[in-house]
Amino acid sequence: EKGTYAHFMLKEIDEQPFVIRNIIQKYQHEDGSTRLDEDIRAAMKDSDRIYIVAAGTSYHAGLVGKQLLERVSGKPTEVHIASEFLYNMPLLSEKPLFVFISQSGETADSRGVLVNVKKQGHRTLTITNVPGSTLSREADYTLHTFAGPEIAVASTKAYTAQIAVLALLAVDVANAAGKTLDFDLLQELAIAANAMESLCNQKDEMEQIARDYLSVTRNAFFIGRTADYFVALEGALKLKEISYIQAEGFAGGELKHGTIALIEDGTPVIALATQEHVNLSIRGNVQEVASRGAATAIISMEGLDQEGDAVVLPRVHELLTPLVSVIPTQLIAYYAALHRGCDVDKPRNLAKSVTVE
Ligand code: M6R
Repeated sequence: EKGTYAHFMLKEIDEQPFVIRNIIQKYQHEDGSTRLDEDIRAAMKDSDRIYIVAAGTSYHAGLVGKQLLERVSGKPTEVHIASEFLYNMPLLSEKPLFVFISQSGETADSRGVLVNVKKQGHRTLTITNVPGSTLSREADYTLHTFAGPEIAVASTKAYTAQIAVLALLAVDVANAAGKTLDFDLLQELAIAANAMESLCNQKDEMEQIARDYLSVTRNAFFIGRTADYFVALEGALKLKEISYIQAEGFAGGELKHGTIALIEDGTPVIALATQEHVNLSIRGNVQEVASRGAATAIISMEGLDQEGDAVVLPRVHELLTPLVSVIPTQLIAYYAALHRGCDVDKPRNLAKSVTVE
């Protein structure tokens, strides 16, 4: 039910802080620890490499998950687009563990890989929002994202829920390996949930950006570096999916290798700047496009912000910024689609679950 909301997408964007808090509760044990299932822990520990396989927005969550798994737990992790993996399988390590990320748990491209790697005798884990789904039933293990039903075709709360669960998984793997971490993930997730909530209360700002930058344009770019690059990809996918604006996400440093040729007077470029170690570089990239006429808007984070930034996010742990920085991009896509008269919840040519290969 949409309740008072005009669209499911907006309702689902707003639900995100509660989804994160729900995940914290669901995975927290009475003693305050976050141990996941013993079998999953053992399978992760026993593997020498994680292969994340997913499509679309879930693939983008996987990119963030790789960074979390490698940085927090030290476990080598690769991320693959399901439909590519099926026909172009990389050389596998000796003890691979496959992690399928899928909101619906029904994506045929991912299932194709699952069936294939199971045949080869590899172990499989599905992270899904629908525990009884095909991918969940057919994998050895399941982690539930507890986001509640996602109705809008454009995935929002499933993405942030997947990242939160991947973060928990990363910490669990680190704990199992006896690593001591210098942060408390549950606390950091709770801080991120609060930040998400405050952004959901700043909708006017995002509506204004959509109005100013995206009302009439044919194309738009999202740029970022490291974790911000992954969110740039997701922001661009969301925008094209529901507003039909041709949008691309780029790694800031890669622009000069070709794409910058597309920048004209007034081309919208939305930049994400939440990562301290690349803050100067991404701002340099913004300068490069601005001096070629781009209409630039910077989404930064407290402590790294500069005068003139369009949105300043509350400060959160650097590994969890995607949970927060994605929200302005979701809202900008929503309002852009709305202003352009598009069917927000049911964009053309798309289905909620893609059950064909
Ligand atoms: O159900 P899944 O997570 O497996 O779906 C994967 C993609 O089809 C999905 O994320 C798609 O990209 C969304 N419509 C994006 O908003």
